[in-house]
Amino acid sequence: MWHLELSPRLRLLANWVRSGARIADVGTDHAYLPVWLVYNGRVASAIASDLREGPLERARETGRVYGAEEVDFRLCNGLSGIRPEEADTIIIAGMGGENIAAILAGASWTADGAHTLLLQPQTKAEDLRLFLSEHGYQITREALVWDRGILYPCMEAMAGRETLSLGQLYGGAKLLHDPLGEQYIIAKIIRFQSAVAGLNQAGGPKNQEKADALREILTALLSMREEWRHANCS
Ligand SMILES: C[S@@+](CC[C@H](N)C(=O)[O-])C[C@H]1O[C@@H](n2cnc3c(N)ncnc32)[C@H](O)[C@@H]1O
Repeated sequence: MWHLELSPRLRLLANWVRSGARIADVGTDHAYLPVWLVYNGRVASAIASDLREGPLERARETGRVYGAEEVDFRLCNGLSGIRPEEADTIIIAGMGGENIAAILAGASWTADGAHTLLLQPQTKAEDLRLFLSEHGYQITREALVWDRGILYPCMEAMAGRETLSLGQLYGGAKLLHDPLGEQYIIAKIIRFQSAVAGLNQAGGPKNQEKADALREILTALLSMREEWRHANCS
């Protein structure tokens, strides 16, 4: 039998799945995560879905190779082909934050209190955090993981209420004690500083307006960095 090794990003999410959970992995592609969870006896059931036939065929192939054919493979857009009672844990990883938010917006039952969401945005994590805070979810856990030279945020969310500051939207809702938190914040500070410099150089009132908005985010991130240092450096 082949040995299936998860990437650090997927391993972190796998560790967050409650033992005996009924999972649905949306946008599964190779289905490494659901197959690993079934193969290792960690879940009671697993649905692996994808929008496109090509990735879903790759998913079925992983299931065949690792003898995890009880994974339920489904072709559907977001959560449209999954009923609320079929899963208690919804995993959506490896997509842009705005795409994850759109999938959740199309399935408001994910904020019913009976579902745990494990989310891993590749980009625009701030859009996802904002969506969650405005649509009846709260981020209950967040962690950073290095994978192939990229620092990824992973989030656990469920029904709840929370207001996030500008700094938390960009620098993380629950990353104050994460050992990688400062690196994450600094990378964003550098990105925004160079965007502001570019806009200043381009000139013009529209660019000035954009630069002012980015400066506001920069200020919030600089104070987040201070908060992180205060919490972690003696
Ligand atoms: C980069 S792969 C991520 C695979 C895996 N989840 C991971 O994190 O490694 C993204 C997958 O999401 C699928 N996808 C994108 N939008 C989707 C949607 N609205 N509904 C279902 N699947 C979607 C794509 O077809 C692709 O297979």
